[in-house]
Amino acid sequence: MNIGIIGSGGREHSICYKLKKSKKITNIFCIPGNAGTAEISENLNVNYNNFKELYKTILKKNINLLVVGPEEPLVNGIVDFFEKKKIRVFGPCKKASRLEGSKAFMKKLCRDFNIPSARSIEITNVKNIKSSLRNFKLPIVVKSDGLAAGKGVTICKTKDRAIKDVKEILNGKFKSSRKVIVEEFLSGKEASYFVITDGKNYIPIGTAQDHKRIGENDTGPNTGGMGAYSPSKLITKNVENKIKKKIIEPTLKGLKKKGYPYRGILYAGLMIENSNPKLIEYNIRFGDPECQIIMMRLKNDLLDLIETTIDKKLKNKRIKWSKDKAITVVAASKGYPGKFKRLKEIKNLKKIKLNNKQQLFHASTIKKNEKFFSNGGRVLNSTVLNNSLKKARSKALKILDKLDWENKYYRRDIGHQVIDK
Ligand code: AMP
Ligand code: GLY
Repeated sequence: MNIGIIGSGGREHSICYKLKKSKKITNIFCIPGNAGTAEISENLNVNYNNFKELYKTILKKNINLLVVGPEEPLVNGIVDFFEKKKIRVFGPCKKASRLEGSKAFMKKLCRDFNIPSARSIEITNVKNIKSSLRNFKLPIVVKSDGLAAGKGVTICKTKDRAIKDVKEILNGKFKSSRKVIVEEFLSGKEASYFVITDGKNYIPIGTAQDHKRIGENDTGPNTGGMGAYSPSKLITKNVENKIKKKIIEPTLKGLKKKGYPYRGILYAGLMIENSNPKLIEYNIRFGDPECQIIMMRLKNDLLDLIETTIDKKLKNKRIKWSKDKAITVVAASKGYPGKFKRLKEIKNLKKIKLNNKQQLFHASTIKKNEKFFSNGGRVLNSTVLNNSLKKARSKALKILDKLDWENKYYRRDIGHQVIDK
């Protein structure tokens, strides 16, 4: 069987690494992939948002199954398009993808099915913004309705700032939508919860804690994620039961009832306070960098799980985990998420020893004349398994310390809430 993996980040490299272990697969193609995926599969330089072009490539390369990493093609309907062409695709359909593609849709689902989440209102008109905000205490959370590449949320300390941010979104700051969601600020600690579901049955597939801020001690601007560890310590058995009963199950039942059952990976971003989880957001895919640690801890054959999901036979599956914990530390280009220099050579990348317990997943890297270069914000993910998170982190850091790359930046405190207290 030939597989196509859509995307080019650390997430897709880790999926590629894991699928590589499946005996049933003949060829893996990464579309477009990165310098890391090129080492273990074949990269195809195709625009995955142009489904017609992608289809031509799929026919040419005889690809039988597509695994979709990022949210954008899912929100644009990649699953619906290829199902019509009789190509198997792992991910939710366009209508169910609105869980991430439209925060207004997600919030309505929460209201309709009584799912605990921040109280919110929708604003679509510049008139009466001030009076709409009257019932919100500071800080106020302002969100763009549509996809915004992680930049769509601001936590406003004053009403004037909130009004300004609402206006900017209404005036088209984000192309995906002009609708605004305003919601109450939730306090507590954040955790990520993942399930794999075939529309009828679901199985938890890992927990993690992401570190979104660029600076140590969780300071500075938000990024795509600077590191994560798994499992999350916040998600105890008691909390997990609440997540399943109050959040995941009503969501899956709700979508099924509406006529578009959810299939694929569902990622719940949660705020937990006093053992009570509330839903902050849904993502319709694995997180990046959370996927990297889950792929390292997962013992099941990933292809088998994906095919069983597509065939709607998840009911009797069991997930097997490594007993070890996992951590991933993201190495970014200095300056990210602001301005940074590209095309800096990473000189001794090939000297790093890789095995089942330590991997260096690539994100924005390219290879030219047998040399590796950084080519974007988040560049590499040092990912390590160990029975102690502290040891896992020092090993992950040691790997990054060894890299001869002048522009590298990474946080040394990933997991500080559980390792350093
Ligand atoms: P999102 O893009 O929805 O993941 O939001 C980005 C980040 O903003 C989240 O990871 C939270 O840290 C924060 N956030 C979003 N909504 C809220 C909220 N209602 N209360 C507190 N923090 C929030
Ligand atoms: N790490 C956060 C995300 O993938 O959305």
